[in-house]
Amino acid sequence: MSLNELITDGKRQMQVCNACRYCEGYCAVWRAIEWRRTFTENDMAYLANLCHDCKECVFACPFTTPHEFGIHPPKLFSGLREELYKKYSWPSGLAKAIGNKGGFWIIAIVAFLLIVAIVAGTNGLPTLLEQHAGKGSFYRVLSEAFLEVTFGALGIWFIGGWMIGAVRFWRDIRSTTPERVQGVDIRKAITYALRLRYLGDEETEEPFSGHRKWLHHSVFYGFLLDVASTTLAAVYAHIFHIQAPYPFYHPVVILGTLGGIGIIIGTSGLIYIKSRSNDANSNKNAKRSGNAFSISLLTIAVTGMLVLICRDTAPMGIILALHLSSVASLFFTAPYTKFVHFIYRFLALVQYAQEERLAESHLTPKVRKENSNPYRGKFANRG
Ligand code: HEM
Ligand code: SF4
Ligand code: SF4
Repeated sequence: MSLNELITDGKRQMQVCNACRYCEGYCAVWRAIEWRRTFTENDMAYLANLCHDCKECVFACPFTTPHEFGIHPPKLFSGLREELYKKYSWPSGLAKAIGNKGGFWIIAIVAFLLIVAIVAGTNGLPTLLEQHAGKGSFYRVLSEAFLEVTFGALGIWFIGGWMIGAVRFWRDIRSTTPERVQGVDIRKAITYALRLRYLGDEETEEPFSGHRKWLHHSVFYGFLLDVASTTLAAVYAHIFHIQAPYPFYHPVVILGTLGGIGIIIGTSGLIYIKSRSNDANSNKNAKRSGNAFSISLLTIAVTGMLVLICRDTAPMGIILALHLSSVASLFFTAPYTKFVHFIYRFLALVQYAQEERLAESHLTPKVRKENSNPYRGKFANRG
């Protein structure tokens, strides 16, 4: 379905849900739709990114297929997210080309060939196959200056791309909210994101679905540890003038190793659960792009760990080239792949936190406390 068709169908489904309201309390989406009587295109963009795809509502729904209403919020929202990521990215043509069609692999292969050509043209091809050991061994394969300039430029590229998408999305979902966001809304959204509150801990009829939150935590916090490790390595290199590789007990290596293990466990688990899930409950493109993103993170984590294990051996040069080309591809494709989900999801949570605050500002403290209980609706629905 095209974006317009999805939005039209989404508005229809939300009208049915708003009349039914059986799922009230399952997640933030249900309160957000209660606060609306009609649904605009921008509301649909907001709701799509608020849905955490836990699928609890659809397994509870008497109006899903084969019922003629054909209600399926998670499938609708995941399809919408795919189309919206393309709509908000810049340039959107690249999103269509790279998004979920194996773009990561094509760019990674091109980057690998470029690295091999650069090594051949500078230090000579044998450097890639020789054993290097001790301080600065990585930079005997590719110079430190080259790595800094290349990855610095790629960093500016993807952060710029993310920011353009974020501004476009934010402008749309804020179009009907004149009140300013407050610090408390942002703090609440950060808590929701860090705890992944709306992904749900419960098993649905999808096998192992209740494990997804913990596997995502493993990827998310693993990723943060790896960012911390790289930042610390830059501090050691530029402020203390101590070059990599660092000893195994060094904080840079410990943080990087823990992060890598977290990403390997988390992404493998998420890929496995997705392989067991029922295709009828997901949007085909969303499933493909989600897997492509998980596999790209897994590749980077595995090659990173191999660089660590093989760092004093002859294969290190080739493994380092594989690792760097997969990181370069992740950076280049970051504004066009599923990686962008964290931006839109976070902004949707900020919007939700503000709507929640505004809606509750007139309630008594007792009712406010009841509303903040995440199991309120679940207990009510499950009798
Ligand atoms: C604001 C922060 C974040 C939130 C709220 C969030 C939320 C979610 C949700 C709800 C899902 C499942 C639904 C979906 O497929 O879209 C998901 C999937 C995923 N997220 Fe995140 N995420 C965040 C940040 C991150 C970060 C920083 C990473 C790693 C760099 C990450 C990696 C993944 C992976 C690998 C998947 C599985 C992809 C798939 O199979 O579809 N997430 N995230
Ligand atoms: S998903 Fe189904 S059960 Fe839940 S509110 Fe919508 S129509 Fe009702
Ligand atoms: S987060 Fe779960 S309960 Fe909420 S709309 Fe999405 S699939 Fe349904």
